[in-house]
Amino acid sequence: MNALPATRLPTWRLTDLRPTPGDILGDTLAGLSMSPRRLPSKYFYDARGSKLFEQITRQPEYYPTRVELGLLEDRVADIACAVGPNVHVVEYGSGSGRKTRLLLEALNHPVAYTPIEISRSTVLESTARLAEEFPHIEMLPVCADFTRPVTLPEPLQDARSTLVFFPGSTLGNFVDDDAVTLLAAMRETMGPHGQALIGIDLDKDPSLLEAAYNDAAGVTAQFTLNLLTRLNREIGSDFDIDAFMHRAVYARERGRIETDLVSLQGQTVHVAGRAFEFAAGEAMRVEYSCKYTDERFAALAARAGLRVVDGWNDPRDWFGLRLLQA
Ligand code: AVI
Repeated sequence: MNALPATRLPTWRLTDLRPTPGDILGDTLAGLSMSPRRLPSKYFYDARGSKLFEQITRQPEYYPTRVELGLLEDRVADIACAVGPNVHVVEYGSGSGRKTRLLLEALNHPVAYTPIEISRSTVLESTARLAEEFPHIEMLPVCADFTRPVTLPEPLQDARSTLVFFPGSTLGNFVDDDAVTLLAAMRETMGPHGQALIGIDLDKDPSLLEAAYNDAAGVTAQFTLNLLTRLNREIGSDFDIDAFMHRAVYARERGRIETDLVSLQGQTVHVAGRAFEFAAGEAMRVEYSCKYTDERFAALAARAGLRVVDGWNDPRDWFGLRLLQA
């Protein structure tokens, strides 16, 4: 639906808040010095990692992307009705995909669209694509780190409220305390009358979960191991990629997939002049993917000063979208 009369085409403008790039060397040295060792999953997404993630979403075992898309397709009219008219849509992530299009098409007169993304080139590319498809929605991309509160650009037309859209269950990659920090930052970003529509992967049969993170074609393993390739290239470490193995296990008591890179032999890895000894079988934690019950998610939201006001699940209760307000 058009947000402005066809005679008044909006231009679009980038707000660059110049986010500080991650300290990949410092984070790696700190993570390798921990016991047990760990590396942050945010470094998965270099160019090859992003391509591999795209491939993961097409693997038969990796249901979240497909199920969330189907859920949106089926329920987007109800969601648009619950959200109400004239919102400023703020998407966490680059948002060039089908989910963004479905939402923008269904909403009643969205006033403006703001993707927030740490990479300037990614946010510019995705906005350019969407601007062509939605020429009557004002495009106000922001280059920033959405884990902190963001001062949003003002749309030309007054918005009734802000709607933060955070699909994909990316929240699940944050441990609970960090998820609460992110949700609290989101609450500040969206303001006291804002709303948030968040995709969450729901707790389910461990065999389905473990299959999704250990696909038969081995794409997830390549994705995880690519982290070491990236470190070798960017910080000059000497990880032997063939001497580590991907392993993803569902920890039922903690409600999350825990992904490790396991050393296949005793070995020494060098980073910035320091030597790190790995024992055979030693596991280095590289990712969490949390799976939520309604109680757990509502409790996280409450800790961030948010409450769940509406929600939609796919018919098998595998994936959910939740609408939150302050
Ligand atoms: C981006 N994120 C929600 C994915 C997930 O399911 O945790 C990343 C991923 N890791 C392995 N497979 C997919």
